Amino acid sequence: MKRDFAGHALLQILVHLAGALPLLWLVMDFFTANLTANPIQAIEQRTGLTAVSFLAASLACTPLAWLTGWKNLTQRRKALGNYGFFYAALHLLTFFILDYGLDFAAIWGDVGKKAYILIGAAAFLLLLPLAVTSFNYWMKRLGKNWKRLHRLVYIISPLVVLHFFMAKKGDFLRLSGDILQPLAFAALVALLLILRLPPVKQALLQLKSKITRGAAV
Ligand code: HEM
Repeated sequence: MKRDFAGHALLQILVHLAGALPLLWLVMDFFTANLTANPIQAIEQRTGLTAVSFLAASLACTPLAWLTGWKNLTQRRKALGNYGFFYAALHLLTFFILDYGLDFAAIWGDVGKKAYILIGAAAFLLLLPLAVTSFNYWMKRLGKNWKRLHRLVYIISPLVVLHFFMAKKGDFLRLSGDILQPLAFAALVALLLILRLPPVKQALLQLKSKITRGAAV
């Protein structure tokens, strides 16, 4: 019981450290002029990358908890998702305020040339209700609908993958350009979403119990 509590507290601390470090690192690099020749683009790219990393980590909690039996992981899912949302919000604010100086006419003019802005905006708008309802109050109030609402991840994840691919300007069909990172992210997200499908989950749990029974004999 004591060991379980210590593991729970340690994981909680690690998650919050992981959540704070990218921001601290970014601020430090800003004040030490370590943000490349184009600091605004660097902030945009780093906050975008951090956002997708936290979203993937949050998606990984549930399948990892099934496989390892470590339920603490599912309790950290919310915090990881909220950090993902936080960095996505910083990413968006960087774009609107630092990059375009809130010049909405210029942004609208560029949307035609950079359709990935609209796709990113759609992903962010869909993330918003998940972040707002991540508190216990809403979980209780919404009941079963909370789970239903969280199925939005099946729409958000492909949108983020597409935004990532298009922002990197690589050519996916010719496998040329900067596509390695978005490709790795797409593969990871696809795997994590497939593992959540009920028949896949069932098969995985059966395999796990067979292996643990085999090891016990
Ligand atoms: C209104 C919403 C959004 C806007 C306007 C926006 C804008 C941008 C822009 C302009 C870039 C290109 C940066 C560059 O290389 O010059 C970019 C890249 C990126 N965005 Fe977004 N974005 C939005 C939403 C999101 C969301 C919701 C996520 C993830 C949860 C995200 C993740 C990324 C990632 C991973 C990149 C690539 C970073 C890299 O080059 O390494 N974006 N975004």
